[in-house]
Amino acid sequence: MDAYAVFGSPIKHSKSPRIHSLFAEETQQDLEYAAQLVPAEAFAAAVKAFFAEGGKGLNCTVPLKELAWAFADKLTERAELSKAVNTLVLQKDGSILGDNTDGIGLVTDLMANNGISIKQKRILILGAGGASRGIILPLLDQDPTDIVIANRTVSKAETLAQEFSHKGKISASSYQGLAGQSFDLILNATSASLSGELPPLEAGLLAEQGSCYDLAYANEPTAFVQWAAEQGAIKNLDGIGMLIEQAAEAFYSWRGVRPNTQKVIALLESERA
Ligand code: ATR
Repeated sequence: MDAYAVFGSPIKHSKSPRIHSLFAEETQQDLEYAAQLVPAEAFAAAVKAFFAEGGKGLNCTVPLKELAWAFADKLTERAELSKAVNTLVLQKDGSILGDNTDGIGLVTDLMANNGISIKQKRILILGAGGASRGIILPLLDQDPTDIVIANRTVSKAETLAQEFSHKGKISASSYQGLAGQSFDLILNATSASLSGELPPLEAGLLAEQGSCYDLAYANEPTAFVQWAAEQGAIKNLDGIGMLIEQAAEAFYSWRGVRPNTQKVIALLESERA
């Protein structure tokens, strides 16, 4: 049976084995998908062993995405620019292709699953870490009016904006510098939300009919989702759909078959309701 796995640390609560098993069942693909605890220092040896033993593809999560980026023999453009890889694909010639399906997973969840358009919209991204870097190119590809990256450490937002400036209209800001502006879509890509914290966000940042999306997810509404509700967001989502869509894109790269994500989203949503 073809073997796949997700590597990361911690990994116990990963939903990926469940999601990929559901995809395999639905598409009638014969495969196994395991979760393996792999700390950063064991990464290279673990990946080599996995593929040497016949493994076909891997997902990499925290804290391994940058290591996977450096490890891959070849990179897709979206992985190259995001400097992070969440999917490794064994190629016919034995080489390993590194891809990043996080951004396309987000865009699919926004547009296809929730009817949120990006074209000619103003987008605000909160945070300038790895999570932000992974979503910028797929968002710019959808032709927004502009993207503003706000971060506590403004220099990090400036560096990111500069790196992607040849791909579309993108700029950096402090949180205070956002005063007086409004955005059609606000994406939280900080790691603050999960610990119940929020960046300092003024009221009025969200345009009328605007939507909010937290890249993180939890069983309870995150701090950002609660803020978005107070701002009257017309759509107020967390990252569970993105998680499932990034998995579907990885599954497609490995198997050449696109799973139906709707049933899996409905199932995981119902389990936390
Ligand atoms: P990830 O890979 O998840 O993006 P990261 O690279 O550590 O993780 O980046 C975390 C992001 O969350 C950063 O943009 C960080 O802001 P700084 O660069 O200024 O540190 C942001 N962040 C974390 N906690 C925050 C908080 N309490 N308020 C505002 N921003 C926060």
